[in-house]
Amino acid sequence: MRLPKAGTIEVAPSILSADFARLADEITQIESAGVKIVHLDIMDGHFVPNISMGPPVVAKLRKYSTLVFDCHLMITDPDKYAQPFVDAGANHITFHIEVTKKPEQLIEKLHKLGVTAGVCLNPETPVEAIEKIAPFCDMVLVMTVHPGFGAQKFMPESAKKITTIRKIVGPGIRIEVDGGIDPKTAPIVVSYGADTLVAGNSIFAQHDRLAAINAILSAAR
Ligand code: DX5
Ligand code: ZN
Repeated sequence: MRLPKAGTIEVAPSILSADFARLADEITQIESAGVKIVHLDIMDGHFVPNISMGPPVVAKLRKYSTLVFDCHLMITDPDKYAQPFVDAGANHITFHIEVTKKPEQLIEKLHKLGVTAGVCLNPETPVEAIEKIAPFCDMVLVMTVHPGFGAQKFMPESAKKITTIRKIVGPGIRIEVDGGIDPKTAPIVVSYGADTLVAGNSIFAQHDRLAAINAILSAAR
């Protein structure tokens, strides 16, 4: 399972808003809706004020899905946990620039471990923080909410950074957006140059997940 090549618009449902007691079913549902990527939010209660799941949960889910596991590490020590998440079945690993001392080395390590690498920046983090390393990543993740919780309000000012990032990385690298994405905000971020749309609440709060995914996709295209 590899991240699809840049250039197509993809919705990556975030299971943070799914029913955690029925995670395998929830993932099967979005898989049959035709998505290629599932976004797994990993929180340590330290980098963000919430705790979600760790490698054992990812490993169990791996048995039920062939989707690309896009692991968003909202944790203070991504370097330490890269290997355990790869062993658990992650296909793509995103770390936060705010807590990564040697991002170049971590990207290299992820590639050696056989997964694609992503760097993420929080709403208050300037583009300059990732400027040098972004071209070596496979995907850049732009937060449009403060990380930690689903169903927050989209921050339009943070989304504007996408335009600058697209200029820096060119067309060959994916730009993913995370936070408050729905059929209204999706076209805005796509017009700035994003192609990978994380959506939690706008999919899992809807009874009909296929319709929710299609609504985001058709608004974005
Ligand atoms: C927030 C997470 C997001 C979150 C998005 O910390 O990184 O992936 O689940 O949820 P929505 O789409 O509800 O804003
Ligand atoms: Zn996320």
